[in-house]
Amino acid sequence: MQIQKQFGTAIASLLACGFIAGAEIININTPHTTMLLDATAGQPLKFIYYGDALNAADIDNVAASTKQWHDAYPVYGMSAMRETAMSVSHPDGNMTLDMAVTSTDETTREDGSKLTTVTMTDRHYPFDIKLNYLTYPDNDVIETWAEAVNRDKKTVLLREFSSGYLPLRRGNVYLTSFTGSWANEANVVEEQLTPGMKTIKNKDGLRNSHTAHGEVMFSLDGMPAENEGRTIGAALCYGGNYELTIDTDDSDWHHFFAGINEDNSSYMLGKGESFVTPPLALTYSREGKSGVSRNMHRWGRDHKIAHGNDLRKILLNSWEGVYFDINEEGMAQMMADIAGMGGELFVMDDGWFGDKYPRNNDSSSLGDWVVDTRKLPNGINGLLDEADKNGIRFGIWIEPEMANTTSELYEKHPEYIIKPSNREPVLGRGGTQVVLDLANPAVQDLVFTVVDTLLTKYPRIDYIKWDANAPIMNHGSQYLTADKQSHLMIDFHRGFAKTLDRIRAKYPDVTIQACASGGGRANYGILPWFDEIWVSDNTDALQRVYMQWGTSHFFPAVVMASHISAAPNHQTFRRIPIKYRIDVAMSGRLGMEIQPKNMTEEEIALCRNAIEEYKTIRPVVQQGDIYRLLSPYDKKGVASMMYVTPDKNQAVFYWWKTETFVNQHLPRITMSGLDPDKMYTVKELNRIDNKPLPFEGKSFSGRYLMSNGLEIPYTHDVDYHKLNDWASRVLTLTAEQ
Ligand code: DGJ
Repeated sequence: MQIQKQFGTAIASLLACGFIAGAEIININTPHTTMLLDATAGQPLKFIYYGDALNAADIDNVAASTKQWHDAYPVYGMSAMRETAMSVSHPDGNMTLDMAVTSTDETTREDGSKLTTVTMTDRHYPFDIKLNYLTYPDNDVIETWAEAVNRDKKTVLLREFSSGYLPLRRGNVYLTSFTGSWANEANVVEEQLTPGMKTIKNKDGLRNSHTAHGEVMFSLDGMPAENEGRTIGAALCYGGNYELTIDTDDSDWHHFFAGINEDNSSYMLGKGESFVTPPLALTYSREGKSGVSRNMHRWGRDHKIAHGNDLRKILLNSWEGVYFDINEEGMAQMMADIAGMGGELFVMDDGWFGDKYPRNNDSSSLGDWVVDTRKLPNGINGLLDEADKNGIRFGIWIEPEMANTTSELYEKHPEYIIKPSNREPVLGRGGTQVVLDLANPAVQDLVFTVVDTLLTKYPRIDYIKWDANAPIMNHGSQYLTADKQSHLMIDFHRGFAKTLDRIRAKYPDVTIQACASGGGRANYGILPWFDEIWVSDNTDALQRVYMQWGTSHFFPAVVMASHISAAPNHQTFRRIPIKYRIDVAMSGRLGMEIQPKNMTEEEIALCRNAIEEYKTIRPVVQQGDIYRLLSPYDKKGVASMMYVTPDKNQAVFYWWKTETFVNQHLPRITMSGLDPDKMYTVKELNRIDNKPLPFEGKSFSGRYLMSNGLEIPYTHDVDYHKLNDWASRVLTLTAEQ
């Protein structure tokens, strides 16, 4: 159904939900939230309100209660010089925009989602900005994006092109953002917004979530709380360079802008061309940061993540087990071992390919995606037969956007790499890695063909780990024309999108993991093609408590690949007992990243048991609602969180001690998200204690668990020689029927 209101015509508007003295009020509503805009013809689109769902009377009166309305999408040039969402240069050199609403469209799609588009046209130039707002009937997320349309005969230069803008009333507003580095991703940072400018940005070109994330939360009622307080979440759905800014100026407002990072990326719009920004997903909850997470997770699983509502297989990945030392015997042994522990999938990581240049380390062969038969004499089919024999599925690692200068691909096609044509490239990983120029359609074909060939030749491949281990350096495209070199960072991602669209159209069912030197691709821009993300190259269980905590703010457990690895850990060299390593990995998409033949019998038995038990809680973890309870960042000596099914009949509770001191005092954790009137029976998973916990098998009301919680012993009751300084618990809570 499409309704259009062209101002100046007499078409009745179903869009007008309330009336404020001649204003044309648009209500972008979701089940529990309302966003109000004023789309009065001849005026710029105004933002009025975003928050709890309003009734008709409130909508009518909201104007009287609001001090100042803001442009919903501030543009550069004519008003007082503040931060803006869009700025352009017109063909005659004029640097201003002066936009006024000309029409509003509303379309309800077959799936019930509703798209509202407000078109604003410049008062003097044939230039439009279409602002879009997409909502779903089952979800409290609003996706918003802008489209710039050049109807001029000559080229317009886009200098700023934000996806969206949101004014936030000043008071005691806190910002939650995520920072980090390789192997230390998604650290949580919470700070009060104060006057001045806060900028969160990425310029890697490709791996956009190592050093910062394109997602933030705003706690409107002071210090961020997990399950209470008005909170707004914002996620830029983009895989490339981004910039989020919060400008706290001399007004009563914080001004939030989010979009592509325009640095060195100004974009020319030719005659009749348009530029569509990536969506900015916004959500609002009264239930604190975890409430925002629950909204985002549900929206992600239902609408954004590839196969977001399907359960993921339990896998063993070969990387930390053998690194580049791939051979047939070793792969067969690992497959038998994971099958023996109850796993469902084996993933062969880096090192399996290369003919002229065998991939024995990271200094060669990317681009030469042919199996190295010196290592694997029976090829991929031999491995697939072995997987079949073991009753598991098989997955494979590729890094198709990349090449090494030591590769047959580079020898044949040096023009495919990103670099200015007249310069020697700066080289990345292994001293030879370069990035392929996905702005070039020939390179898009090449990358598509890499995946297509693998999946056509070996249709039994069930899973691809898609890696990307280099930033975009050497700004320069040997494909783009001289005047369009500034398009590179954006056109790379457009090429990536086209390639992934083709892959998904032909191979909708294969599972694809997005890895980019670990957690470099944690964003909702890529997840429509990808089933999961590799949270970090750091598999240390203690540091994972922190990194997964941060990642969980916007990404559900179903996408958080979380693997049991060796002790000492290969990144931190910390020796963490297997019980704790299991208990942490079980809070995400469980997998293993270890050489099973080096594990003790006892470790194998515990993992076998954990895999069996994880299968019983997998739907709760991967499809349930998250309730973070006590943050590791609070430094209280323990971290705790839980997942609860939407019907509140099942829950899984996690408790991880994060430090140990003699006679320390740990807080007793109160639970959340349960039905106060239901009785829940408690069962411990992965038990290592000699005696069950005192409350094992006992039932408690949700009310009691949420107001008092359970007293968790600080240590494990094990034989003396097994005592150590680590403690963790996983409990299931099952409602009595
Ligand atoms: C980086 C990834 O993050 C690792 O998991 C592994 O796949 C290596 N690349 C392989 O080179």
